[in-house]
Amino acid sequence: MKDRQAYIVGTGHFAPENTLTNHDLEKMVETSDEWITTRTGIKQRHIAPDDMANSDMSVEASKRAMEAAGWAPEDVQAVVLGTVTPDYSFPNTAALVADRLGLGKVPCYDFEAGCSGFIFGLIQAKAFIQSGMLDRVLVIGSEKLSSIVNWEDRNTCVLFGDGAGAACVSSQGPGGLLGGVHWGADGSLGHLLDLPASGSRMPVTHEAIDQKLNTIHMSGSEIMKSAVRAMRDSALKALQEDGLTYKDVDLLISHQANVRIIESTARVLRLEWKDVYVNIDQYGNTSSASIPIALDEALRNGTIKPGFTVVLAAFGAGLTWGGMVVRYSDE
Ligand code: ACO
Repeated sequence: MKDRQAYIVGTGHFAPENTLTNHDLEKMVETSDEWITTRTGIKQRHIAPDDMANSDMSVEASKRAMEAAGWAPEDVQAVVLGTVTPDYSFPNTAALVADRLGLGKVPCYDFEAGCSGFIFGLIQAKAFIQSGMLDRVLVIGSEKLSSIVNWEDRNTCVLFGDGAGAACVSSQGPGGLLGGVHWGADGSLGHLLDLPASGSRMPVTHEAIDQKLNTIHMSGSEIMKSAVRAMRDSALKALQEDGLTYKDVDLLISHQANVRIIESTARVLRLEWKDVYVNIDQYGNTSSASIPIALDEALRNGTIKPGFTVVLAAFGAGLTWGGMVVRYSDE
C-alpha cells in the first residue's frame, strides 16, 4: 500500500450572490472602510440569504468539483465536511449533501477544526487513500458564518463571510499530488476564539441569547500572534517532510483571515508577494471554506500552472493549525 498516492483531481467553489461591503457596515456599526481595509484587507464579504444553509452551498461547490473531476455520483466513496456552522448539530451536513447529490449510502461525516478544516479534510482523504481503504473521497469546507456573527460587535462582524469549497481526491492522477503534511492543535488556547453557548457546556438558553453568547467571541490580537507562528511552522514542516524548502514553493495559499497575517507569514517564509494567493478583499474570512475557494480560483484563473509546488497553510479555532504540500505534475 506504500506506493499509493492521493491527488486532487477536481475543485469547485460557491459564494452567495449577495455581498456586504465595508460601506454597508459603516451604516451598521461604528467603523469605516478605511479601518477595515488597512487593518484586515477586506473590502466585501458574501452573505447567504436566510433560506440558504451550509448544505446548499456545499452542494453547489461539490457539483462544480465533481464536474471538474469528471466524477459521476457513484464515483464518490465517502464525504468529509469541515465546518463550524453545520446545518444542524445532527444529522450531519455531509450526509445531507450526499443525499442531495445522489451519492448513495456512502459514509459521510462532519468534523470541526475551525479554519484548518479543509486541510484536516485533505489529510483524512490522503490517509484513507494511502491505506488502501478508499479510492475517491469528496472533501468539503463550507461555512455560513453570518449565522453566528454578532452584527453589533465591530470587533468581529467586519471579518467574516459565507461560502463553500470542495475537492475531489483520488488514488488516480494526474492532479495535485497531496504531499508533506503537518498538523496540530492546542486546546489550552481554545478560549481565544469560541462560540460559548453552542453545546453541552453552555446550552443555548434565553439568558445566553440575551448576552449574545451564541455568537463568535474572539481575542483578535492574541490570535494574530499565534497565527503567524502556526502557519509558518506548518508550512515549513510540511515542506520538510517532502525534502523541500521555501525555495521550492511556487505559490502559498494560506487561510484568508487578515491580509496582515498573510503578509507576515509570507515574510517569515521568505516568499515574494507575487507567490502568495490573496482573495480576502472579496470574501473576508470564510473559515474552512477559505482555502478551497482560493485553491479553486487559483486553478481556474491559471495562477497555478503545470509543475507548480503549492503550499497550503491554515490556523483557526481550537486552536488548530495545518500545512500541506500539493504538487502539480507537468502534464
Ligand atoms: N472598526 C473600527 N475600529 C475597530 C474595529 C472596527 N471594525 N474593530 C476594532 N476596532 C478598534 C478596537 O476597538 C481598538 O480600539 P481601542 O484601541 O480604542 O481599544 C482598535 O480598533 C484596535 O483594536 P485591535 O484589536 O488591537 O486591532 P488589531 O490590529 O489587532 O486588529 C483584528 C483586529 C482585525 C481582529 C485582528 O486582530 C485579527 O485579524 N486577528 C485575527 C483574527 C483571526 O484570524 N481569527 C482566527 C480565525 S477565525 C476562525 O477560526 C473561525
